[in-house]
Amino acid sequence: MAQFVNFLLLVSLIAFAPLCFCTKSNYGYLYPQFYDHSCPNAQQIVKSVVAKAVAKETRMAASLLRLHFHDCFVKGCDASILLDSRGSIISEKRSNPNRNSARGFEVIDDIKSALEKECPNTVSCADIMALSARDSTVLTGGPSWEVPLGRRDSKSASLSGSNSNIPAPNNTFQTILTKFKLQGLNVVDLVALSGSHTIGNSRCVSFRQRLYNQSGNGQPDSSLDQSYAAQLRARCPRSGGDQNLFFLDFVSPTKFDNSYFKLLLASKGLLNSDQVLFTKNEASMELVKKYAYNNELFFEQFAASMVKMGNISPSTGSKGEIRKYCRKINS
Ligand code: HEM
Ligand SMILES: *[C@@H]1O[C@H](CO)[C@@H](O)[C@H](O)[C@H]1NC(C)=O
Ligand SMILES: *[C@@H]1O[C@H](CO)[C@@H](O)[C@H](O)[C@H]1NC(C)=O
Repeated sequence: MAQFVNFLLLVSLIAFAPLCFCTKSNYGYLYPQFYDHSCPNAQQIVKSVVAKAVAKETRMAASLLRLHFHDCFVKGCDASILLDSRGSIISEKRSNPNRNSARGFEVIDDIKSALEKECPNTVSCADIMALSARDSTVLTGGPSWEVPLGRRDSKSASLSGSNSNIPAPNNTFQTILTKFKLQGLNVVDLVALSGSHTIGNSRCVSFRQRLYNQSGNGQPDSSLDQSYAAQLRARCPRSGGDQNLFFLDFVSPTKFDNSYFKLLLASKGLLNSDQVLFTKNEASMELVKKYAYNNELFFEQFAASMVKMGNISPSTGSKGEIRKYCRKINS
């Protein structure tokens, strides 16, 4: 009997040994060299398609950066945001944060089709978004970093997760911080990553409340510079013009720099969620000041926090799949 048990032990050791090795080298976590053998040109291909898209329209850099964020906050960085509605899948593209707002899906499609030609069934849509976010940052003048890779794509989406996990522009500081903490991110990550709003646009509807009726008392937000508020009201009326576009950082809207933080010091943050970083919390206020005075410090922390965000609950190993088309699951 003891011999038989030993035998079983031996068999199972042999059977699971490869798995144990994989746990160390391939499974569980991400690393930048993931495609070095399976698709050596992957990063170059992503970069060249992103560069072309950004050359055509600078704002695309911002849109691609945001896409990665909106993906990672819902079930981890698993490309769930890219799925269209079909069968039992209800697309996250319909959620409050994404509807009439999230963009860049065609660029992701272009990258995916270029990668499928080079090395079929190999590079995940989730990794494409992580790389595009980095490339977009670099192309607009921001910091670079090595992107850990090896994410796999989900087979489902979560509309409710998208609605509840992604902070809204009129959430309180505390609510926003709580939503970051639920993802394993802290106040340093919150402030640094909000620095993304140094590029890109917002619609009128995302900040109108501040201009007319911030607290239900018929008054504009008192933490908003009043002459800036007047300028905004000119193109963001009480009603109508919901989709009118405004630069998040009007000083250097297409340049990735720390001017966003300087604007917060001047009470010229566009979104309520931007300005509260300076007005509602001591730790956060200190960080805003630091980044406003020291661009290098901002760049360093931004890169570190992007890696951290990109590491939210990745599917690895045999979980999920490598989608053939980013908009739909395989099968
Ligand atoms: C801290 C909580 C955050 C809130 C409440 C927030 C909210 C928003 C809102 C309301 C817009 C404008 C959307 C529209 O009107 O169409 C926007 C745009 C944008 N957000 Fe955020 N955001 C947050 C954090 C982040 C983070 C962490 C990133 C990236 C790491 C990011 C990247 C961007 C970018 C790049 C844009 C411009 C997109 C474009 O022009 O297409 N945001 N955000
Ligand atoms: C935030 O904005 C949403 C959508 O416009 C609105 O329904 C909600 O009442 C606002 N929340 C607060 C606290 O003002
Ligand atoms: C402001 O909002 C409050 C509460 O939502 C509402 O009762 C009030 O009528 C609004 N005032 C104006 C001037 O829009």
